[in-house]
Amino acid sequence: MLSNQAADPAKRTSLHGHWSSRMAFILAVTGSAVGLGNIWKFPYIAGQNGGGAFVLVYLLCVFLVGMPVMMSEVLIGRRGRRNPVATMALLGQEEGSSPNWKWLGGVGVLAGILILSYYSVVAGWTVAYVFKSASGVFAGAQAEQVSAQFGGFVGDWRLVGFSHTLFMGLTTFVVARGVERGLEQAVRFMVPALMVLLFVLLGFSISSGHFGEGLAFMFTPDFSKLTWDSVLAAMGQAFFTLSIGMGAIMAYGAYLPEETSITGASGSVVVADTSIAILAGLVIFPLVFANGLDPADGPGLVFDTLPLAFGQMAGGVFFSTLFFILLSFAAWTSAIGLMEPAVAWLVEHQFRTRAQAAVMVGGLIWLLGFGSVLSFNVLSDFKFYKGTIFDNVDHLTSNVMLPLGGMFIAIFAGWVMCRNSTADELGSSGTLYKIWRILARFVAPVAILFIFLKAIGLLPDLS
Ligand code: PFF
Repeated sequence: MLSNQAADPAKRTSLHGHWSSRMAFILAVTGSAVGLGNIWKFPYIAGQNGGGAFVLVYLLCVFLVGMPVMMSEVLIGRRGRRNPVATMALLGQEEGSSPNWKWLGGVGVLAGILILSYYSVVAGWTVAYVFKSASGVFAGAQAEQVSAQFGGFVGDWRLVGFSHTLFMGLTTFVVARGVERGLEQAVRFMVPALMVLLFVLLGFSISSGHFGEGLAFMFTPDFSKLTWDSVLAAMGQAFFTLSIGMGAIMAYGAYLPEETSITGASGSVVVADTSIAILAGLVIFPLVFANGLDPADGPGLVFDTLPLAFGQMAGGVFFSTLFFILLSFAAWTSAIGLMEPAVAWLVEHQFRTRAQAAVMVGGLIWLLGFGSVLSFNVLSDFKFYKGTIFDNVDHLTSNVMLPLGGMFIAIFAGWVMCRNSTADELGSSGTLYKIWRILARFVAPVAILFIFLKAIGLLPDLS
C-alpha cells in the first residue's frame, strides 16, 4: 500500500511533496489568488457593473461565501492528500457517502483548463506590455495614443498568439519542475514587490486631482445600477480572485503540513488578495476620470490607463516595465495553480511523469487558447450568448462553474463530512469553528444557489 493511502488521515502524505513551511503554503496560495483577477479583471468588471454597489456585493461574497469555501477546500485537500478527483472519491467513501463525489473534482479540473485557456491570452498581453513599456512608446503619450496601441496589438492575432504561446511555455515549464522547486520560489518576491509598486501608483493617482471621483465611484453604492446579472458577476469575481471552486486550493491543501492552522492561513490570503484588488481599483478609477476615459471600457481598461499614468511620471519607462514584469509574474503564479489539478490527476491516474503530464495539459490549453486569441481580431464579430468565445468561456467558468463548484464543496464539507473530521482538520471546536460551519452549511450554499437562480431568471420577483 502506498503511504499516501493510509487509512488514518493524519498519517497520509502527498505523492507530490509538501510545502517546506506554513509560510510557503501562504505564499503559494496568495500567488495563486493574486493575479490578473485583481489588477486586470476586478477594475474592469467593477467599471462595467456601475462601481460602488458591485464592490459592496463583491466584498460580502468574499467574506461570507469565499472565505468558508476556501477553508473547506483546504481542509478537504489536506485530508485526502491527493489530486482533487481522487481526494473527493476517497473522502466521499470515507465519510459514508459516495465515490461519485469525484465528479466534482473532475469539473474542477475542466474549469482550470478552460480558465487558463483565456487567462494565458491576457497574461500574454501583459508580457507583451513589458516590451512595449521598455521601448518607451508610452513616454508622454496621450489617452488616444495609448488606446490605439492596445487596439493595434490585440487586433493582430499573430502577436497575441505569439505572446500566448510564450506564456503557456513558461507556465508548463514551472509546473513540470514540481511543487517546491517550481512554485515556492516564484512567489516569495512577487507579491510584496507588486504591492510596493501599487502604492507608488496610488501616490500618482492621488495627485491626479480626480482621486475623490474614483473613490466615490468605488464606494458609493448606487443600487439602481445593480442587476441580478451583476450580483452574479460580483460573486463569480469573488470565486475567481480567490482561486476557489475548482480544486486548485484543494490541490495546494494536499501539500499542507498537518499542524498548520487552516483558518489563519486562509484569512491571511483573503485579506492580502482583497487589499490588492481594492488598491488596484483606487489606482485605476481616478486615472480613468482624470483622462476622460470610460470606466465601462471592458477588458482593455488596465492597458489603456496604466501606461498613460506611467507615461506622465518621472522614471515612467522604468516603473512601467517593472510593473508589467511583476504583473506577468503574478499571472504566472496563478496559471500554475490553474494547471496543477489537471497535472496532478494525470500523474496519479495515467502513471505519467510530471513533465510529460505538464506538456500534455499545457499543449491542450495552448490549443484551446486560440479561441480567445482570435476573439479580439479575426473572430471578433463571431458572437453568441454572452459575446465572443472569450466572453463565453469567461462567463461559463467564473459565473457558472466556480460558484456551483464552490457550492458543492461547501455542501460536502458542511453536510457530508462529519463534525469530527472537519473539527479535526480545522483544529478547534470553538467559536471560529462554529461560525465556519454555519457559513459552510447554510449561508454559502443558499446564497450561491439564490444568486445563480435569480441571475438565470428561474426565481420570480416577489413584488
Ligand atoms: N485568482 C487568480 C486571479 O485572480 O488572477 C485566477 C485563478 C487562479 C483562478 C487559479 C483560479 C485558480 F485556480
